[in-house]
Amino acid sequence: MKHRLFALLLFLSAIAAADDIRSPDGRLAMAIDVDADGTPFYRLSYDGRPLILPSRLGIDVTDGPDLDTGFEIAGVDVAETDTQWEQPWGERRIVDERSTDAVVRLANDDWRLHVHVRVFDDGAAFRYEIPAQRDVDRLTIRDEFTEFRFAEPGTAYWQTGDGELKYEHLVQTTPLAAVDVAHTPLTLRTRSGLYLSLHEAALVDYAAYRLEATGPGSFNASLRPWSGGDAVYAQLPMRSPWRTIQVATDAVGLLNSSLILNLNEPNALGDVSWVEPGKYTGIWWEIHRGLGTWAEGPRHAATTGAAKARIDFAADNGFDGVLVEGWNKGWDGDWVGEPRLDFLEAADDFDLDEVARYARSKGVRLVGHHETGGHVSAYERVMTDAFELLASHGVTQVKTGYVGMAGSLKRIDENGEQHFEYHDGQFAVRHHLRNVLEAARHRISINTHEPVKDTGLRRTYPNWITREGARGQEFNVWGAEPNPPEHEVLLSWTRLLAGPMDYTPGVFDLDFVVNGQERRVETTLARQLALYVTIYSPIQMVPDLAENYARFADLFRFIVDVPTDWEQSIALAGEIGDYVVIARRERGGDDWFIGAISDEQARTLTVGLDFLEDGVNYEATIYRDAEDAHWKTNPYAYRIDTARVESEQRLTLNLAAGGGTAIRLRPQSDEEEQ
Ligand code: NOJ
Repeated sequence: MKHRLFALLLFLSAIAAADDIRSPDGRLAMAIDVDADGTPFYRLSYDGRPLILPSRLGIDVTDGPDLDTGFEIAGVDVAETDTQWEQPWGERRIVDERSTDAVVRLANDDWRLHVHVRVFDDGAAFRYEIPAQRDVDRLTIRDEFTEFRFAEPGTAYWQTGDGELKYEHLVQTTPLAAVDVAHTPLTLRTRSGLYLSLHEAALVDYAAYRLEATGPGSFNASLRPWSGGDAVYAQLPMRSPWRTIQVATDAVGLLNSSLILNLNEPNALGDVSWVEPGKYTGIWWEIHRGLGTWAEGPRHAATTGAAKARIDFAADNGFDGVLVEGWNKGWDGDWVGEPRLDFLEAADDFDLDEVARYARSKGVRLVGHHETGGHVSAYERVMTDAFELLASHGVTQVKTGYVGMAGSLKRIDENGEQHFEYHDGQFAVRHHLRNVLEAARHRISINTHEPVKDTGLRRTYPNWITREGARGQEFNVWGAEPNPPEHEVLLSWTRLLAGPMDYTPGVFDLDFVVNGQERRVETTLARQLALYVTIYSPIQMVPDLAENYARFADLFRFIVDVPTDWEQSIALAGEIGDYVVIARRERGGDDWFIGAISDEQARTLTVGLDFLEDGVNYEATIYRDAEDAHWKTNPYAYRIDTARVESEQRLTLNLAAGGGTAIRLRPQSDEEEQ
């Protein structure tokens, strides 16, 4: 297929009010207006049906008059965007970007404030733009007055924005009216059956917002403040992140949207051919399993010998990288409380030069690890040297970590005083971008754990390759409770709407004892394969011990074969929290891969295959739950079936309770078919 690549920017004449800024298909409409007091507001409708009732706009300023009332609309500039752009890596190579854009220019006696609106077929967004004006070039923002007043009740899927675990709480399913404080994405199935999701895009030099209920179904966007109480220190001209509202008529519509990416700026890094998707294994899971330690000593996991063994495992199976946690000094004692972690010196029994040499000789790369323990200022002091050291050892990916409870990031100010900041405040937002840009200078990609939420910045900075930012597999080892089977289904409609996640699927040993406590991963074996497809990340880990994969070599084949970079991705079927089925075509090839997972219910699903090329026969290798599989009673029961399929056929999938199916579809050449 040949792709058109063109952009049409059509500036229409300024109009007096911003009624009905309509999506290209005409169905979604946003309006911006001011009330009798000159307070700006917006509203959103779909096919004429209200989705968001008139909801306030404005900014609460600490060091000047608020940007809230007395406004008039000075003008509206309307434009259209109709383009396609290419992702260097991603869930799809070509992204369609079509929207109606409007800049609504508001003015009162004190201020000029622009509200920039973009309405796509799959959602709408607005952001504040504050131009430089009079003698004001700096502004301190206490909060926003932005509201979201949903027109209809419904079922909300959300995680608390209040707890200590940052973004690592279980997703709750409640009536919308029961939501009090929530992180975004917050997703809603309205009573009349529409699907909406609130989030933000392009969070740069600003604070993340949480939704705070002001009444049933009504929320304020509440900016996460610095420890001093203000939220944003801004330099004018400034732009806030986009406040986004995805809209779809069915659940999979939300998953097939590129709204968040489309609202981010194009690649700012130029040639990013050095950013490499792929799979990595590492010295990691065994530490979480309690089989070794980060700290040096007799049980230290990251020895030269252990690293070489992992490198052999990676090389034997074609995996690109080997993460080594605990490679450095400083893990003994209280590394979260005290800034002990050393980013420049290897542990005594870990020979960095030798391991890097060995990795190179095997065609494998070492993956670096910078756990900060939340000591951000301490890390920033050595960040350049730390990247330098790793780059000189052939490292092209670094996993960073910010372990600690919400509000525990350590900032040392210019007077040497320590302050505690949030993982989603402006301090953290600034740090992460500094980290990603510094890494880019060393041609290193970043996988952030305990990050700020993803807002699509991978488009602008493609070396911000993935991040954690939700309960990952590791909660199955030490969480107060494991991830229930619906968790990974719910992730699709919450965390994963924001962007890729380093979940670390692929655990094969499902029941074990850690520190004297029995643990159980609430999954079937086949489901672990399916997660490589349902959870998108351009780098995916292969975490378990080589001996556990050796027990199920025929299943392990799928993990070896599954790519992590895609030409196309299509969510085929799903309902929030119940099940999800996703098909992806590999980049640079014709194979398709399907992943399907269920919650705690067993279910039979039938999906169409019309995404396959017409008239071509595909051989399907189906890694599935056996008839009697069940996550609780029989998790290891699986089957591997093969079938011949074509695009006009439908495929029936039998998912066990807590189960899943993973499929590889390979087109057959004429010869193979004879
Ligand atoms: C938490 C991270 O999510 C995990 O992957 C890592 O192993 C530990 N912190 C230590 O850095």
